[in-house]
Amino acid sequence: MKHPFDLTGKTAIVVGGAGGLGQQQAIGLANAGAVVAVVDVNAERLASAIREIKQQGGNARPFLTDITDPHAVQAMVHTVVAEFGRIDILVNAAGITQRCPSEDFPEELFERILNINLNGLFYACQSVGKVMIRQGGGRIINVASIFATVGLPESVAYSMSKGAVVQITRTLAVEWATSHIAVNGLMPSWFETPMGKVADNRNQFYKGVARVPSAEELKEKTIGRVPLGRYGMPHEIIGATVFLASDAASMVTGHLLAVDGGFLAQ
Ligand SMILES: NC(=O)c1ccc[n+]([C@@H]2O[C@H](COP(=O)([O-])OP(=O)(O)OC[C@H]3O[C@@H](n4cnc5c(N)ncnc54)[C@H](O)[C@@H]3O)[C@@H](O)[C@H]2O)c1
Repeated sequence: MKHPFDLTGKTAIVVGGAGGLGQQQAIGLANAGAVVAVVDVNAERLASAIREIKQQGGNARPFLTDITDPHAVQAMVHTVVAEFGRIDILVNAAGITQRCPSEDFPEELFERILNINLNGLFYACQSVGKVMIRQGGGRIINVASIFATVGLPESVAYSMSKGAVVQITRTLAVEWATSHIAVNGLMPSWFETPMGKVADNRNQFYKGVARVPSAEELKEKTIGRVPLGRYGMPHEIIGATVFLASDAASMVTGHLLAVDGGFLAQ
């Protein structure tokens, strides 16, 4: 009998697959047997992600694509279908953030964050969704955040984009259920990636603030609020991703799975 987490013969697309979490998700899907199209806008990180997946014995192909361009997304999806015949799994893990007081939040930054975290994610769902409807089913996994549900100061564009990701996920889950497409999401807390380790990388994230908080203050405000008391390690996103992509989750759709060390249980 086939193991319920086995993804042999499946084709997956991981958008943002060169990033801290996306790369782990791509590795996890590849190790479970899927062929993975790794999509990212960062050529260097993309090449390194493909090397890593192949070194671990997985099968992956790079796609240098900016998901804020709907035509580029359609072209990428078209090529994946032409090469692999179908798309069984889509993971949306591209995302950016920057912190700035809401009263001074620059228009350009506001638009850039929404364009990537929200519009780009929808373009990918839409293009892949069409293919999945045609082929009779599939799995979509959208990476939201704990800040889809609670507020994060100085991060209005990020928090609202993630709140919208939750609603895209629920809406598509309901709308596409009869097409046998399961649409679920993940809500991570702080993970050890450049984005998650905001305390160590604080100067790159703060814009237009009178004082950038110290690393200690930020640790207190971040992992200090997580019941498990630590950052998630990037590989700790794999289990939830493979579960939602696999037959083990055959009755699960429209669900947001917190991978957050207990943050949302408080
Ligand atoms: N790391 C955390 O603590 C954390 C917590 C909650 C949610 N998240 C979410 O998880 C996802 C991954 O985060 P991460 O920590 O791995 O960040 P990351 O910066 O390491 O990865 C994000 C990836 O998205 C890619 N990307 C950015 N813009 C793109 C575009 N226009 N087209 C294609 N690719 C693009 C980047 O090149 C990068 O490789 C994001 O959506 C983030 O909001 C992260």
